[in-house]
Amino acid sequence: MKDKIKELENNISAAMHGGGKKRTEAQHGKGKLTARERIHFLLDEGSFEEIGMFVTHRSADFGLDKEKYPGDGVVTGYGTVNGRLTYVFAQDFTVFGGSLAEAHAGKICRIMDLAMKNGAPLIGLNDSGGARIQEGVVSLGGYADIFYRNTTASGLIPQISAIMGPCAGGAVYSPAITDFIFMVENTSYMFVTGPSVVKTVTHEEVSSEELGGASVHSAKSGVAHFSCPNEIDCIRQIRKLMEYIPQNCDEDPYPVQYEYTDEKRTALNNIVPDNPNQPYDIRDIINLTADRDSFFETHKNFAENIVVGFARLAGRSIGIVANQPAHLAGVLDIHSSVKAARFVRFCDSFNIPLLVFEDVPGFLPGTDQEWNAIISNGAKLLYAFCEATVPRVTVITRKAYGGAYDVMNSKHIGADMNYAWPAAEIAVMGAKGAAEIIFKKEIAESPDPQKSLKEKENDYNEHFANPYRAAERGYIDEIIKPEDTREKMIAAFRMLENKAEKLPRKKHGNIPL
Ligand code: HXC
Repeated sequence: MKDKIKELENNISAAMHGGGKKRTEAQHGKGKLTARERIHFLLDEGSFEEIGMFVTHRSADFGLDKEKYPGDGVVTGYGTVNGRLTYVFAQDFTVFGGSLAEAHAGKICRIMDLAMKNGAPLIGLNDSGGARIQEGVVSLGGYADIFYRNTTASGLIPQISAIMGPCAGGAVYSPAITDFIFMVENTSYMFVTGPSVVKTVTHEEVSSEELGGASVHSAKSGVAHFSCPNEIDCIRQIRKLMEYIPQNCDEDPYPVQYEYTDEKRTALNNIVPDNPNQPYDIRDIINLTADRDSFFETHKNFAENIVVGFARLAGRSIGIVANQPAHLAGVLDIHSSVKAARFVRFCDSFNIPLLVFEDVPGFLPGTDQEWNAIISNGAKLLYAFCEATVPRVTVITRKAYGGAYDVMNSKHIGADMNYAWPAAEIAVMGAKGAAEIIFKKEIAESPDPQKSLKEKENDYNEHFANPYRAAERGYIDEIIKPEDTREKMIAAFRMLENKAEKLPRKKHGNIPL
């Protein structure tokens, strides 16, 4: 037995070295950690249990029979994050450049199957040269096996992807299906076709970083939700995100201890400027309403006219969607609609109640928006809110105009409670535009058209640019002082805690994709 144990120890030691010292040094030289180092930092200390350490490929093509590494370029297993079961795979770039083939894919699929059966989140740490070229079509099959499971797992368990190196070609579609993508600045990139193919086809000269680096995907394309300065920060952010989300779709997020002390927040009275055209940062309202330091923003650099993220209210996780008047006046456009819709769907999938702060002047006009389908894209947000069955509360802090009023979690589309601050303006359109249309003739015939327009504008403002018309109809449940918002939200979400709403039975809806 002693010899056998020694043999096992030697085999484990060999597996621990991945592709060997030289390749590990090269990995470190690029400012990257190895797969095992990443897992070490990601999971609670000492909690990792590896599965499939001795799996190797079965290919003999192109000399592969002479090159075998235990684990086949991916480390898989389970452990805990913040004390809770989590499944993980980490591609090992030191073995065949982390490339994916039959055995490598089989290991990832096994972990995914276990995660789904046992109802726990899956975290994938990607660092791979793509399909293992020597293994041909089995590599492609392996990817498809993973895509299929990503889709089955969607909405069942949270899936998180971190891109910590190359992720190119069809390989990008596994992270794309998962719920959140993290990228590391300067060492990771994602693209369907790389710079050389781009150059051949479109004659554009572009580097990997410019084409698909972290800053591009977190700010321009919106593919990535987080852009992190380094791998340690990336891992820290993943662990933080995990604090807000439950294990699976049948569980609620875990509450944290909370002591009621400071619910009234008078500073809220001073955030919205008297001039309705002046901007303010909606994050100030979010931070003063939520538990202190609990707001965790996601998708921060993309479509900044809407802010989304997780927070806690009296210790309980909530998802926040908020128009951002400090950027494009908080207008809804294609990107902000899609960003918010995906976030709403994530929260609804995983029983995270939604709090919406609304200050929206309407949808962004223009040919760019219309030709790129603001109709279908705006409808995604509308659809996402309409079908969400989690507790849903809206606070109108200032403007709620036009179709955007309906879309932003109005009572009509299933919100449970709607509140407005006293200076809220809830109307079909702004007073000037409205006056120009309704009183067109009268204004034109008046001896002083400018004065007449101003009078009509003031009339319209007095009549509609307030929350009372909506409150009279019950569209707004209560008009509240800003300083009471936190108390009111705590009470509302507590009242809604046992909300049980079911959609009609059907196969699935057809969201306007
Ligand atoms: C097999 C690969 C590999 C691959 C890299 N390696 N990619 N082995 N299949 N796809 C190996 C290299 O041979 C090398 O082995 C080691 O990994 C490190 O690679 P380097 O090139 O030395 O590293 P680096 O300079 O950092 O460049 C990384 C890279 C480059 C940019 C990823 O290796 C590369 O361009 N690889 C090919 C990418 C590719 O075309 N993949 C197929 C895409 S198509 P040694 O032994 O020297 O350490 C695809 C389709 C998926 O993925 C479709 C799914 C539906």
